[in-house]
Amino acid sequence: MKYTYRQMPEAMKGTFGDFSRSFGFSWKEFVMSVPSPMFLVTTFKSNGRPNACMQSWATFTSANHGNGFYAILGSVNKSGHLYQTLHEKREAVINFMSAEYHAACMATIQHNAFEADEIAAAGLTVKPADWVDAPMVRECFMNLECKYLWEKEIVPGDDHAMVCLEVLGAHIDEAHLADRTGEQGLLYNIHYQIDPERVGKTAHDYAGVLIKKIDVGEY
Ligand SMILES: Cc1cc2nc3c(=O)[nH]c(=O)nc-3n(C[C@H](O)[C@H](O)[C@H](O)COP(=O)(O)O)c2cc1C
Repeated sequence: MKYTYRQMPEAMKGTFGDFSRSFGFSWKEFVMSVPSPMFLVTTFKSNGRPNACMQSWATFTSANHGNGFYAILGSVNKSGHLYQTLHEKREAVINFMSAEYHAACMATIQHNAFEADEIAAAGLTVKPADWVDAPMVRECFMNLECKYLWEKEIVPGDDHAMVCLEVLGAHIDEAHLADRTGEQGLLYNIHYQIDPERVGKTAHDYAGVLIKKIDVGEY
C-alpha cells in the first residue's frame, strides 16, 4: 500500500515541517527526502578574510560534450556571504569533508561575521588555492577549484539562485585516491525525514556516508 501526498499532510500542520517554510523549506523536502552531497564552499570576502559556507542542495555533472565538469549549487541564498563573494571574485573552492571533520565544518556557520576568518575560527586550516583566488580547507580530503559560470533563479524573483561552477581541477588526499566513498568518504545530507502519518515534535538531521550495495560490473 502506498500513501499519497499532494497537499501538506494534516498531521504536519503547525509543526516544524510547516513553519520551516519561513526558512525556505518546502514541506515536500521533508516528506520526499532525497539526500544530497554535503560540502563547504570557500571564497575570499572583499576584506580578504576567508568565507566558508555549507551547501547541500547540490549535484555535479559533466557537460560541453565531455569537455567540462560542473557543480550545480541548486539554491544559494542571495543574502549570504557566499553569493556576495561569488559575484565579487567569481572563484571558489568546494571542500569535501569526511565524518571526522563534519563538526568543524558545521562550526563555520557559528562564525559567520564579515570580519571573521570563518575557516580558522572553526579550528580548520586555510591553504591558498593553486589556480583561483580562494582559500581551501586543508583538513578536507578533496578540494575542487572552481570558476563561477552562470546563475539562474528557479522561479523569477526568488531569494535564492541556482549557481553553476566549472570545476577546474582537484586536490585529493592520498588516503582517498582509490575510493572517496565509504566510512571515511564524502558525506550526504539526510535532511529531517518526516513520517507524514507520525510527525515528531522536533526536527532531526543526519549526515550519511555512502556504502556500495550493488556491483554493477566492468564495462
Ligand atoms: C548541511 C547544510 C547544508 C546547507 N545547504 C545550503 C544550501 O544548499 N544553500 C544555502 O543557501 N544554504 C545552505 N546552508 C546554510 C548555510 O550554510 C548557512 O546559512 C551559512 O551560514 C551561510 O554562509 P555565508 O553567509 O557565508 O554564505 C546549509 C547548511 C547546512 C548545515
